[in-house]
Amino acid sequence: MEMFRGFLFISIAMILFSLNLSNVEGRIHYHKKQKKGSPVEPPTYAPSPDDPVSQSPSYPPPVSQSPSYPPPVSQSPNDPPAVPSNPSDPGNTTSEDCVFDVMAFGAVGDGCTDDSAAFAAAWKEACAVESGVVWAPSNLTFLITSTIFSGPCKPGLVFQVDGVLMPPNGPDNWPKTDSKKQWLVFYRLDDMTLTGSGTIEGNGDQWWELPCKPHRGPNGSTKPGPCDSPAMIRFFMSSNLVVSGLRIQNSPMFHMKFDGCEGVLIEKLSISSPKLSPNTDGIHIENTKSVGIYDSVIANGDDCISIGPGCSNVNIEGVTCGPSHGISIGSLGVHNSQACVSNVTVRNAIIKNSDNGVRIKTWQGGAGSVTGISFENVQMDNVRNCVIIDQYYCSTKACQNETSGVYVTDVSYKNIKGTYDVRNPPIHFACSDTVPCTNITMSEVELLPEEGELVDDPFCWNAYGIQETVTIPPIDCLQDGGPEAIGESGTYGCY
Ligand SMILES: *[C@@H]1O[C@H](CO)[C@@H](O)[C@H](O)[C@H]1NC(C)=O
Ligand SMILES: *[C@@H]1O[C@H](CO)[C@@H](O)[C@H](O)[C@H]1NC(C)=O
Ligand SMILES: *[C@@H]1O[C@H](CO)[C@@H](O)[C@H](O)[C@H]1NC(C)=O
Ligand SMILES: *[C@@H]1O[C@H](CO)[C@@H](O)[C@H](O)[C@H]1NC(C)=O
Ligand SMILES: *[C@@H]1O[C@H](CO)[C@@H](O)[C@H](O)[C@H]1NC(C)=O
Ligand SMILES: *[C@@H]1O[C@H](CO)[C@@H](O)[C@H](O)[C@H]1NC(C)=O
Repeated sequence: MEMFRGFLFISIAMILFSLNLSNVEGRIHYHKKQKKGSPVEPPTYAPSPDDPVSQSPSYPPPVSQSPSYPPPVSQSPNDPPAVPSNPSDPGNTTSEDCVFDVMAFGAVGDGCTDDSAAFAAAWKEACAVESGVVWAPSNLTFLITSTIFSGPCKPGLVFQVDGVLMPPNGPDNWPKTDSKKQWLVFYRLDDMTLTGSGTIEGNGDQWWELPCKPHRGPNGSTKPGPCDSPAMIRFFMSSNLVVSGLRIQNSPMFHMKFDGCEGVLIEKLSISSPKLSPNTDGIHIENTKSVGIYDSVIANGDDCISIGPGCSNVNIEGVTCGPSHGISIGSLGVHNSQACVSNVTVRNAIIKNSDNGVRIKTWQGGAGSVTGISFENVQMDNVRNCVIIDQYYCSTKACQNETSGVYVTDVSYKNIKGTYDVRNPPIHFACSDTVPCTNITMSEVELLPEEGELVDDPFCWNAYGIQETVTIPPIDCLQDGGPEAIGESGTYGCY
């Protein structure tokens, strides 16, 4: 009896094992090489908020694997499953049979062969299993063209870049039929992670030199001409996202952009582009809620982090910016639009050698509000416009005076210390003529000239609030209490 039981147990175990093994083999070995024009080729069509794509979900994918590529390895049942045996194998987060190495899908990784089809094929399979991992291994450089990685997918999907991922080099090499507005797009996903120890390289330099870009035309002018430049990594209409660990650099435009997302955790990123690279915002969010950005270092030619309309519950901690244009809420209210931003906290930040520190910028006109904003423990190091609210933002010099504005209220600055570049006053509150800024709280704001002496005093226009401690330099222009007209106007159309 005991022997029989033992035998039964072993038999069952062997059956289970062999079932499992063939399952693994199915996943690892029988990857069909994608031919050009096959259904998994990435759609070249670019979704935009104005024009959402209605792609049919690719999940679950049709099971049409031919067993011919790569040639099946004949394994004895005792061989370990053939999974990537790389030391940095991401196996810890998932079981190994969920790793889809792009090399097994025909990627070359030599930096010049177009590996887009291999990534699309690996994505498709990883998408269909729980906790699937699309894996771009280290020491290889993968060139891929503009690609939309779309869901819905099974939860726990990981896109792991340990090598280098890069787009074609500049506008001349960009495939004519590809969108020039975006490169890597992650669309309609829930519970997905983009991570790795590798680099996402944007090859941005030729895009920055387009004559349409600021100061890039002859003699520093700006010329008309094609100007579209791809945002490097875009997350669109997705939720519960994690982006961590990667180095992201030299983007043609914004490095990362989130629109229409909810639940975003960004941590331990290193983002860099040259100081004079135009429009290379580090992380841009709009219409996105519940965002945490932590422990990241950003150096670029535009806003370090920019927060557009429709964002709320944003927490930024442990971020170092510079050179950059600082951390910015806005611009808001363009073309008389309504903009709502609420509950944004920036804490324990360092901003250095930047054109702005912490900024709120709105166009004249528009509606809505910016409310519940807190900047706390921010170290400024040689920064122009350390603390600035600009409700007269205008990028064209041709803006009309308007009779409405985005209401800015409940903004607190606490423990903001360091040095400023004397070319601009360190504190500048230029609030709307019609909708003054209210309830600005200043506490332990102490800013000293980096070198030389303050040329202009802090500036305020229509700004109301309190100083809990003496501000350095003094801002006598901040008015006590509140203006008569404003009262409690509620949310200004924001909910
Ligand atoms: C793997 O996971 C275990 C338990 O979750 C953890 O203790 C260990 O540090 C992890 N190892 C690596 C290399 O990440
Ligand atoms: C990658 O290259 C480095 C340096 O040549 C080497 O030390 C390392 O072992 C390589 N890693 C892999 C996974 O091949
Ligand atoms: C650029 O400036 C130089 C010197 O001022 C001038 O000679 C030249 O014509 C200008 N070029 C253009 C394209 O405006
Ligand atoms: C503000 O946002 C934080 C996340 O950054 C969240 O934990 C908190 O609940 C939000 N507060 C309100 C009042 O919504
Ligand atoms: C807007 O108003 C300011 C101050 O009243 C005035 O100096 C300026 O000329 C006006 N601009 C336009 C375009 O009307
Ligand atoms: C002023 O703003 C602070 C947050 O900065 C908030 O706690 C406080 O309730 C606001 N005061 C009024 C009167 O709205």
